[in-house]
Amino acid sequence: MFRYLKKYWVFALLAPLFMIGEVLMDLVQPRLMSTIIDEGVLGLSNQGVGDLKLIIVTGLQMIGLVAIGGTCGVLCGVFTNLCSQNFGNDMRKAAFRKIMALSFEQTDQFSTGSLITRVTNDITQIQNMVSQCIRGFVRNIMLFAGGIASMMLLDISFGVVVACALPFLVICVAFFLAKVTPLFRVLQKKLDRVNSVMQENVAGSRVVKAYVKEEYEKKRFGDANEDLVGTQLRILTLSAYMTPVMNIVLNLSVVAVIYIGGIRVEQGDVTPGSVMAAITYLSQILHSVMMFAMVFQTISRGTASYRRVKEVMDCVPVIADGEAAMMSGEAATVNAEAALADEKAGPTHGKAPRKGPKGAAGGRVEFRNVSFAYPGSSGEAVLNHVNLTIEPGETLAILGATGSGKSSLVNLIPRFYDVTEGQVLVDGVDVKDWKLTELRDTVAIALQKSELFSTTIRKNLLWGDSEATEEELEKAAKDAQAAEFIHAKSEGYDTMVAEKGMSLSGGQKQRLSITRALLKNAKILIFDDSTSALDLKTEAKLYEALRTHYKDVTKIMIAQRIASVKGANRIAVLDNGNIVACDSHENLMKSCEIYQDIYRSQLKAGTEVSADE
Ligand SMILES: Nc1ncnc2c1ncn2[C@@H]1O[C@H](COP(=O)(O)OP(=O)(O)OP(=O)(O)O)[C@@H](O)[C@H]1O
Ligand SMILES: [Mg+2]
Repeated sequence: MFRYLKKYWVFALLAPLFMIGEVLMDLVQPRLMSTIIDEGVLGLSNQGVGDLKLIIVTGLQMIGLVAIGGTCGVLCGVFTNLCSQNFGNDMRKAAFRKIMALSFEQTDQFSTGSLITRVTNDITQIQNMVSQCIRGFVRNIMLFAGGIASMMLLDISFGVVVACALPFLVICVAFFLAKVTPLFRVLQKKLDRVNSVMQENVAGSRVVKAYVKEEYEKKRFGDANEDLVGTQLRILTLSAYMTPVMNIVLNLSVVAVIYIGGIRVEQGDVTPGSVMAAITYLSQILHSVMMFAMVFQTISRGTASYRRVKEVMDCVPVIADGEAAMMSGEAATVNAEAALADEKAGPTHGKAPRKGPKGAAGGRVEFRNVSFAYPGSSGEAVLNHVNLTIEPGETLAILGATGSGKSSLVNLIPRFYDVTEGQVLVDGVDVKDWKLTELRDTVAIALQKSELFSTTIRKNLLWGDSEATEEELEKAAKDAQAAEFIHAKSEGYDTMVAEKGMSLSGGQKQRLSITRALLKNAKILIFDDSTSALDLKTEAKLYEALRTHYKDVTKIMIAQRIASVKGANRIAVLDNGNIVACDSHENLMKSCEIYQDIYRSQLKAGTEVSADE
């Protein structure tokens, strides 16, 4: 935490300094008040004759001090906010960066709702804690110590009242904090739950409506919310007990000061003005103790939140840059070049040349005895000893029943997950040895579920290459068969896309995802069932464009329909995590029973249409 505070140490130092100014002014006021009463009104040192001039002068002094105190207070507030807001901003950005670096399995462990709460509400609680520490803490310590000292200076007997009242208050505050502190962590967890249900419902609102599950979901949200309210109420109830108890102690103490003060005035040891001042000091002291309870409450809530944010910050990304890449960016390149010595040009491990894949070398993918099980899935293998090599420029299709492991296989190439056994090599280098950003720059993937963002079509596409020219954009859109429908929209590329691409049809979303992937000009292009929503004619045109314009790019196409894959150089048939055959359409038709079965079933269902039609 101090790492984020260090940058704003000037603000963190100035704020308490100005606070000291404000509190000093508060502590001087009762003294001046006492002068007004004793000398101005009662005229104790002038045989009972008051002094109007003194009242006016002292009154003006008091106003002056209030102004100075107020200015100090404002400046303290400004510096406190500058410190805590900037600190929170930095911490929030760091937490966001960390979450982005986590692997899918790690973000799944936290749950989206919880991560949102941690980055928003939890960091706000930590911000409050910081601001309370540099402002509230200093203010109350000073008021407390300064008040006691000033009171003792008036008359030592007043100290007795403070000595009696304090233990009560301290016990009260300690009891309250002991009860309330554990509730804060619970409170944040309940907030996680509310956020999770909320997020699931907003994201899945169409399904909720389609299944008429509004009432069910309302109840689920209501339950989570009531749970949250219940915890909040417990905290508030405890706080509610505190205030009257504190007030009783405060009022009894005031009575005691008046009583003792009365006796001391009669004895001639103190003046009435001093008794008035003592009452003000007493309320300042006891108030500071009450405020301590609030400060500690904010601190214990902030600490609970800090632990939660720290859990995220301390999470070491499971998938990070390979050791070789970290030790030397060159090492991996040398390896790769050796592996591809007989090819025209070695891979650069950098971003593929921007000006198109033509001439870009590399893009060889090799699965070497790869087995894979999803982390936390009790070790059930999704892929078993897969051996497969895809040469640069080759088009490899992957066909297999749903759940056979097609997506899992291709997700290993950009290292969305790490293999359990074996190796995945890109350009002869284990993906674990690549610098992650460079590896992912080498691969363009259109995911099975098209993810689009709520911005214009152009901005969505430029994710592929932010520096792409208008011509490059248009060419990629044409190749992906998306140009026509984009131009048909009244605002063309500047048409806004609704959240998650809700304003587009399934096929349009897929074509935008494909355009985005093509624009990336990567050496390896992966389409994970990205053409499933396209009609066969459009799909055939897309494949034709890929064949002619992306000759040197390694293309890995997952598809369900034989019509979509028959034009590929080779088709890998995946069955239950095993590659049972890998050959051309013609050869598979002769030799692979599973492939023939799929062919026959699709023919019967009437989906078998020549992709060249
Ligand atoms: N994140 C995950 N965690 C645990 N298991 C998973 C995960 N994703 C997929 N699986 C499991 O891995 C197996 C293979 O899934 P995969 O998504 O690779 O299949 P697929 O061949 O792409 O299927 P489809 O054609 O339906 O897309 C399935 O049994 C699935 O339940
Ligand atoms: Mg899949």
